[in-house]
Amino acid sequence: MVVLGIETSCDETAAALVDGTGAVLAERVLSQIAAHRPFGGVVPEIAARAHVSHLDRLVGETMAEAGVGYRELDGVAATAGPGLVGGLLVGVLTAKAIAAVHGLPFHAVNHLEGHALVARLRRAIPFPYLVLLISGGHCQLVIANGAGDYERLGTTIDDAVGEAFDKTAKLIGLGYPGGPAIERAAAAGDAGRFRLPRPLTGRAGADFSFSGLKTAVRHVVADLPQPLGRGDACDVAASFQAAVGDVLSDRTANAMASFAARTGRRGGDLVVAGGVAANRYLGDRLGEVAARAGFRLVVPPPALCTDNAVMIAWAAIERRRAHLAADALDTPTRARWPLDPGAAPGARA
Ligand code: KG4
Ligand code: ZN
Repeated sequence: MVVLGIETSCDETAAALVDGTGAVLAERVLSQIAAHRPFGGVVPEIAARAHVSHLDRLVGETMAEAGVGYRELDGVAATAGPGLVGGLLVGVLTAKAIAAVHGLPFHAVNHLEGHALVARLRRAIPFPYLVLLISGGHCQLVIANGAGDYERLGTTIDDAVGEAFDKTAKLIGLGYPGGPAIERAAAAGDAGRFRLPRPLTGRAGADFSFSGLKTAVRHVVADLPQPLGRGDACDVAASFQAAVGDVLSDRTANAMASFAARTGRRGGDLVVAGGVAANRYLGDRLGEVAARAGFRLVVPPPALCTDNAVMIAWAAIERRRAHLAADALDTPTRARWPLDPGAAPGARA
């Protein structure tokens, strides 16, 4: 089985060909970071235009590199949500057109399902497992019971964790995207210098909140001599990152307890996905809480954690294996699309 995957939900334009064994036959990921950098964040209109400009070429290059013809494909998958509608439309319309012209099944893939399942591309991770999805757009804890079958244990009630990294980086004068810059600065900083809040920690449940932390960082920065010196910036970065580590650890510990109660299992796999999963400090912290609860920590390689089209093709392959039907060519895009339709509405999809 060979599936073409397309990802355009945010600021990466990506195409990939993946086969049923999980082999990536070819892939392209075009990051738009440089286009959005002057604005300090993703500008939806710029993103949509960039997807239009590049997607056809990237799909063509992917097919050519793999030496695969459209008629040899077993399906075409595109991210249909959640995400920025302009970008989603570009990817979904492209995939539908290819499917219609060549008579192929079309798969409207949920971006979050892509992040949740991609860990299984290279490793045998049995269902059910726990997923901590931490990216620029999402922050949630989900039980993956199988393809198309998820139970959300918690989500953010305000900002996503990557967003908090990006906003903090902006406040202390580091570049965009903020995550990697904060991690580097934090390594040289004193995490104990500033007392920052750890929203929702110590409370029941697995929801997240980062807006109070962000506000506290703003007050701390406002009290420091301007412009911030490197030493101060590093101390703020380290204090912020330690607070995020405490929040993620506390919420994930609760989710692991819920997982045990719901599945009747002691321990299991904790899969961390999304761009923020690239953070080594947070990975170490999560490894510690996972070990305490008898869980194995699984962090896919960074290229599979950040947005990519391999995970979209792979999700379609997993759905086919689970005998889930392909999608009709009039399937709409969805700006919000929770993985678990039964989940209480959070502030985020
Ligand atoms: O998954 P992703 O590529 O795109 C979304 O779906 O959002 O995640 C991007 C986010 C950005 O907010 C970026 O700052 C954050 O992931 N990020 C990091 C690190 N690398 C990327 N956050 C913390 N530490 C990192 N090393
Ligand atoms: Zn993502």
